[in-house]
Order: sequence, then structure tokens, then C-alpha cells
Amino acid sequence: MELLTKTLFLCLALALTNGGPVPAPDAPVDDVALPDRCAGIEFDAITPDEKGNTFFFKGSHLWMGFHGAVQLANESFKELDDLHHIGHVDAAFRMHNVENPDDHDHIYFFLDDKVFSYYNHSLEDGYPKDIQEDFPGVPSHLDAAVECPKGECMADSVLFFKGHDVHVYDITTKTVKTKTWPHLPVCTAALRWLEHYYCFHGHNFTRFNPVSGEVSGPYPKDARHYFMNCPNAGHGGHYEVRKCSNVKLSAITTDDAGKSYLFAGSMYMRLDTRHDGLHAFPITRSWKEMTSGVDAVFSYNDNMYLIKDDHIYIYKTAAHYTLIDGYPKTVKEELGIEGHVDAAFVCPGQDTVYIIQGRTMSDVNLAATPRVVGDRPVPLPMSDIDATLCNAEGIYLFAGAQYYHYETPMILGMSRMAPRPLPVTNAILGCED
Ligand SMILES: *[C@@H]1O[C@H](CO)[C@@H](O)[C@H](O)[C@H]1NC(C)=O
Ligand SMILES: *[C@@H]1O[C@H](CO)[C@@H](O)[C@H](O)[C@H]1NC(C)=O
Ligand SMILES: *[C@@H]1O[C@H](CO)[C@@H](O)[C@H](O)[C@H]1NC(C)=O
Repeated sequence: MELLTKTLFLCLALALTNGGPVPAPDAPVDDVALPDRCAGIEFDAITPDEKGNTFFFKGSHLWMGFHGAVQLANESFKELDDLHHIGHVDAAFRMHNVENPDDHDHIYFFLDDKVFSYYNHSLEDGYPKDIQEDFPGVPSHLDAAVECPKGECMADSVLFFKGHDVHVYDITTKTVKTKTWPHLPVCTAALRWLEHYYCFHGHNFTRFNPVSGEVSGPYPKDARHYFMNCPNAGHGGHYEVRKCSNVKLSAITTDDAGKSYLFAGSMYMRLDTRHDGLHAFPITRSWKEMTSGVDAVFSYNDNMYLIKDDHIYIYKTAAHYTLIDGYPKTVKEELGIEGHVDAAFVCPGQDTVYIIQGRTMSDVNLAATPRVVGDRPVPLPMSDIDATLCNAEGIYLFAGAQYYHYETPMILGMSRMAPRPLPVTNAILGCED
């Protein structure tokens, strides 16, 4: 169907039905109401795929990601209803099993007493199977399922929900321990997202501890405010992943723990958690003092340095970022640098921060007190740099939707002619190609 028609049907559905019941299985789907997740839906199952797209299932339909439009589930997972015509998925999860690459990252769907294994959106040979053939001891007609890797659970496991019972399946030993969590609502779908665990019930969700089942904090919360992009629905979800051709960074950095952050306007995004999809948050969510964005950011010795106008804020990197006492200070006082800073970077394991201002680059030794700015700034062969990153692959200098790549700061400093800029791609920044 062409996009325009699809949009039209969606609008009609929104206008006429207010998210009413899913069409009868024999009705021609395109002519009747499509489910509307912003109307408040109880999902049948939620799971990420191997690329980090999260799929939300309801009846014969699904949504991809927090923004995607409703579509038929069998467009993405062809065989799901061919064989059974059951019309809905009971439960789904993405396997975490690094010891067995044949299983790792596969999506498992549960329908009645059958299990389907998909990889790259294709059904694996030999499926569907009886659930007990693959997961001995796990009951049929499940309500929800979610993976729980070792470290978050005792061992690489899957939690299967049925009523108030949770069947914890150990992937390696293929054994099941059953617990009862009567305080947790009956979950119709469960999701692990950014290392947290969510039970979905009605249009609400409750975050729980995957080992004890404990709920802490003000739950339930309305899923429409957090997991989907609905009009008038509070915070979160309003950021669209940009087209690569529209990218405009403010700053980018990777800290010593390997966490990568991209900053653009008032938002930031973690790049290293791409396996769970990319999600943007207001910068103030993690760095509460940075109320008007950032110009440049670099990481050094478990601290993150954020520059805005002529001030520098140094945050201690731990579970949370906390502003170190005495900051902000002026950039002049801290680094001996005057004037607007466009971008800054420190290469892994090094003590030198390189500061880019217009067409020049200065260096400052962070291990020396007081700070000494290097002999003189070196001229750069290009201008309009928005953000820079140095990692094991070299230095990336971002200018709008393009970037320049150099092997080392020295080669950059000696370069007299800019190399041809390369287009920013999905692989580099997670934007839409
Ligand atoms: C997908 O499902 C719809 C309704 O459930 C059905 O009409 C259609 O034929 C299915 N398409 C495929 C390719 O199986
Ligand atoms: C995934 O599926 C697509 C289309 O079916 C195919 O072109 C591609 O080669 C597959 N990729 C892998 C890694 O199997
Ligand atoms: C959702 O949670 C709210 C409280 O946050 C509660 O009042 C409401 O009844 C819940 N609705 C459903 C359908 O679970």
C-alpha cells in the first residue's frame, strides 16, 4: 500500500474508532479500524529484534519502534499466522545466549503451545515446534516472556509469565524454577530495555527487579508517556531519529567505560546501547546544570567535561553524573583557552585535550597543573567543525551531515588540504540513511 493511503487509513481509524476492537479475523483489514496504540492498548507481546528495533504486538498487528505506524504482523514475520490463524502472539523475547551463536539474538514467539524462532525476520528451519521441545518445563498459553542475561539474573535466563507465576528458565542447564509474584500485576507483555525490566498490563507498565520481582517507585505508569510517541502524552518519545542528511551535532564523546554520547541541541543519545534501539533524552536528565545545551564535550580520567559558552562543567562519571564542587569555572581559568570552543577531544589513554576554535586547533596538557596551552594553535584545513571524537579508529571531525577522518592528532595538525568529507551514515550515528 502506498504511504499516503496507509496514512489515510490510520487517520480514519483514529477519527472513527478511538482505538476500538481489533477487526474480526475474517474482515478485510484495510477497510476496518486499525488498532491505535495511543488510545490505550493492552499489548500481547513486546520484543526487540537483532537490530534493536522494538516490536509491539496486538492481535494481527504490530508497531515497530516507539514511532512506527501500525502494520500487519505478517508483513514483518511472514509465517506467524500462515500456520495457525490464531491471530495473536502470546509472548515474545530476544534470546541472549552469547555461548551459542546459533541462538543468540533470535526472536522467539509463543502462540498457544507452539514456539517460533526467527532470525533476520525469517523463520528458522524446524519451526514451529512444541514449546516443551525447546523449553522443557515451560507451560503453554503464556502471558509474557523476557530474556534476562547473566549479571542481571543469576545465569542467562528467560522469565516466562503466566498469571502470577514466573517460570525462570536457565538457558544453559535447561531447568526451570517457578516463583510466584502476587504483588506484580499479571503481565500481558514484558520487555527488557536499557538494562531494566518492564511488565506491561492494560495501557500501563510496572518496572520490576528480574530476580526478586520487587517493584520500587511510583508504578504503574502510563506506557503512552514513555514507550510510544503519542500526542499530548507527557515527556519522552518526542524525539525523531533524524535523517542522516539533516544531522547537526553539538558534541560527541566516549568515556573510559565505553559509553558513547551524542549531543544535539537540547537532547543527548547513547550510541553504545544501540542494541536496544536509539533513544534521545533531554541533556538535563543526566547533566542537570546544562540547561542550555553544550558546545563541546570531552572525557578524561573518569570525568566528563562539558563546555557551554565561556564556562566548563566537570562531572564525575559514576552511576550518575555529578557536578564536581567548584564548577562551573571559566574555560580560561580551567584550560587557559579564550573564545568560543567549537569542539574538543581527548584520544583514549592520552592526557592532551585538543580544542577546536574556527580554523585552529590548540592543545592543553591535562596532566599538568597549572595548565599550559601548547606553543601555538595549528591551522586546520577546514572550518565549521561541530563535534569531534577520537577512538581506536582515529579522529572524526563532524561538520553538519559530513565528517572528516584522520588517523592521529599529529596527522590532522600537519594536514594542509582537507580530505574529501564523507557523508554521516547510520553505521556511524544511528541516523536514518
Ligand atoms: C496477513 O494477514 C492478513 C490478515 O490477518 C491476511 O489477510 C493476509 O493474507 C496475510 N498476508 C500474508 C502475506 O500472509
Ligand atoms: C536478511 O534477509 C534479507 C532479506 O530477506 C537478505 O537480503 C539478507 O541477506 C539477510 N541477511 C542475513 C545476514 O542473513
Ligand atoms: C493505570 O494506572 C493508573 C495509575 O497510574 C490507574 O489509575 C489505572 O487504573 C491503570 N489502568 C490500567 C488499565 O491498568
